[in-house]
Amino acid sequence: MRVLVTGSSGQLGRALAAAAPAGTVLRACTHAELDIAQEAAVRAVFADFVPELVINAAAFTRVEDAERSPEDAARANATGPEVLAAACRGAGAWLTHVSTDFVFDGRQSHPYGVGASAAPLSVYGRTKLVGESAVRRELGERCSVVRASWLYSAAGGFAARMLALMKSAPELRVVSDQVGAPTHAAGLAGVLWALSVRRAAGLWHWCDSGVASWYDFAVAIAEEAVHLGLLAGAPPIVPIGTADYPTAAARPAYSVLDKRATERLLALTAPHWRVALRATLAAAGPGGARP
Ligand SMILES: NC(=O)c1ccc[n+]([C@@H]2O[C@H](COP(=O)([O-])OP(=O)(O)OC[C@H]3O[C@@H](n4cnc5c(N)ncnc54)[C@H](OP(=O)(O)O)[C@@H]3O)[C@@H](O)[C@H]2O)c1
Repeated sequence: MRVLVTGSSGQLGRALAAAAPAGTVLRACTHAELDIAQEAAVRAVFADFVPELVINAAAFTRVEDAERSPEDAARANATGPEVLAAACRGAGAWLTHVSTDFVFDGRQSHPYGVGASAAPLSVYGRTKLVGESAVRRELGERCSVVRASWLYSAAGGFAARMLALMKSAPELRVVSDQVGAPTHAAGLAGVLWALSVRRAAGLWHWCDSGVASWYDFAVAIAEEAVHLGLLAGAPPIVPIGTADYPTAAARPAYSVLDKRATERLLALTAPHWRVALRATLAAAGPGGARP
C-alpha cells in the first residue's frame, strides 16, 4: 500500500513511520518537504507518489502560540486538512486525519463520546474542529477522523519537556486541576494504522486508560525517570491551580475521551497511561529519545 504521512518530523509523524506495517511503500514528508496548506505542493506530491492512503500528522500544536497567530494555526489545522481531503477525493485515496480532545470545553465529568457536543475554548481547538469538519464534509465515508488526547513521546510533548526541565529547574510548579489521559504517541500510531488498514469510516476517539492531572503526570515522569536512571534525582514538584498559572489559551478542565468503540472495533485494550509511560521511557533509554 502506498502511504503518504504528513508532518513526519513531529512526535506522531515519527511514531507513524516507525510503526508502518510490512509491505507499506511510505512517503514521509516533513513540514519543509510538504506544506499541507499549499494546494500546488499537495497536487505535486499526489501526482508524483499517487498515495492510496494519507495519514495527516501535520498540525500547528503550540496551543499558546495559536492565540497570538490564529492565521497560522488556521492554515495548518483547518486549510491544510481541507486541501489534503480535496486531493484525496480527487485521487480516490483514504484520509486518516488526527484531531484533539481540545475540541471539548471540559465541563463534562465523564469521558467524552464521539457524539458529545464540541465547544472548543482556544484558537487551537477551534481550528482543529474546523479541520475535522472540513475533512468529513469533503470525504464523507472515505475518511477516519481520530481524536486523541495529551500526546507524548520520549522525543516530544509534555514528557520530553518535563524531563528536560527536571535536569535543571530547582522546582517545578504544575497545574493539578486539569485532568486528561496521557497517551503515548507510539500507541496512537498503531491505532491509526489499524483504523486506516480497515478503512474504518467516521469519527473515533483514542487515549490511554486511566486519568491524571498534569501534576500527576509530571510526578510519574519524575518517578519513572529516576527509577530508570534517566535522572539522578528530580526537583520538588508543586501542584498549582490553573488560576495560579495564567495562559493566553483556555484549556478544558476535563478532557478524557471515551475510546470504547475503537477498542471494540480493533479488539484491543488501551494500556494504562502509567504502564505506557514506563515502557516509553525505558525504550528511550539513558542515551536519548526515540518515538
Ligand atoms: N501534542 C498533543 O498533546 C496532542 C494531543 C491531542 C491531539 N494531538 C494531535 O495529534 C497530531 C500530531 O501532533 P504532534 O503532537 O505529533 O504534533 P507536533 O509534534 O507538533 O508535530 C506536528 C508536525 O506538523 C508540522 N506542521 C505544522 N504545520 C504544517 C503544515 N502547514 N504542513 C505540514 N506540516 C506542518 C510541524 O512542523 P513545524 O514544527 O516545522 O511547524 C510538526 O513537524 C495533531 O493533529 C495534533 O493536533 C496532539
